[in-house]
Amino acid sequence: MGILKNCINNKDIDTVPIWFMRQAGRYLPEFREIRSKNPDFVKLCLNPELSKEITIQPLKRFSFDAAIIFSDILLIPYSLGQELKFEKNFGPRLGDLEINKILEISDDNILKKLKPVYKLIKMTSMDEILTNKDLLGFVGGTWTLLVYMLNKKSPKKNLDQVIFSYKEQDKLIKKIIHTQKLHIKNQVLNGATLIQIFDSWAGLLDKSKFNKYIYEPTKELVEYVKSLGVEVICFPRGIKDYKEYCDIVKPNAINIDYEVDPTKIERDIKIPVQGGLDPNFLLLEQKQMLEKAKNYLNIFKDRNYIFNLGHGVLPNTSPENVKALVNFVKEFK
Ligand code: CP3
Repeated sequence: MGILKNCINNKDIDTVPIWFMRQAGRYLPEFREIRSKNPDFVKLCLNPELSKEITIQPLKRFSFDAAIIFSDILLIPYSLGQELKFEKNFGPRLGDLEINKILEISDDNILKKLKPVYKLIKMTSMDEILTNKDLLGFVGGTWTLLVYMLNKKSPKKNLDQVIFSYKEQDKLIKKIIHTQKLHIKNQVLNGATLIQIFDSWAGLLDKSKFNKYIYEPTKELVEYVKSLGVEVICFPRGIKDYKEYCDIVKPNAINIDYEVDPTKIERDIKIPVQGGLDPNFLLLEQKQMLEKAKNYLNIFKDRNYIFNLGHGVLPNTSPENVKALVNFVKEFK
């Protein structure tokens, strides 16, 4: 257990907790080296030894307070039997959705497919590099998973045709939620100390549809994670009204994106806040970068705040900047 959890639970901490989404990734040469020898991304996620090594790579270099498991939100569609590939310069490509097969697949079969992820978590949580640090497990938001499963690739806009006209959507949503719970439970049982829910495409949804596709399923998941005795951080990327989201969904902490005004968030939202800065700011010259970080930290200085970004670290980020930033945040008072 580490200071992320302590921050979220209002316990005394002496530094601002820090970790980054995509802290393990292509900006690290040691990641690129493993990746170049393992062109199949899904296979890499399902190799516990290598995915453990990737998970802890950033902790070997920087004083992050947490590791996030090296995995992907799309392993849920994969575990339900939908084909999944990652293509260079394209991103994820999913196979046709065979709804009857998906609805019939048993928990045992789902867990069999996800077993390497639990092994990765178990092995990582036992590594001494995680002493006094948190290990984040995660799932995609129900809405975001529904989008990928029906759209079969990353969406642009106009989702109406594919998603809302799909006749079996209610059954599919139920099965996704069931699988998310199964996956969350097994991550926690194997050593995840916190769960983050990535609803990356929340910003694409019309407000009138929030209740059914975002609020209801996420609220159910949040209650479920809490019932396991673990805290949950939600990241509904791109939504307009974070306050309403927090009031309805009630996560333990909220990750904000870089489109929102942090001063307004600081004023309106009472629960611990995480993230917010545009990952592009890490590409600035070091002095300017630290200046921006300082201004941001000052906005949240009198409350529980976890330093992170408004989206993942970009591949062209320099590890030297990451190092300087982490050290700066750790010394900020
Ligand atoms: O944050 C972390 O470091 C933990 C690992 C993690 C990955 N994906 C590894 C990954 C997490 C938490 C995710 C979540 C994820 N996956 C999301 C939600 C967060 C977000 O980015 O909005 C989404 C939408 C996905 C689906 C996905 N995975 C896409 C669209 C892509 C391709 C685009 C891209 O950024 O490269 C991936 C691939 C992926 N997942 C990579 C990594 C490190 C890049 C793989 C590579 O080419 O080396």
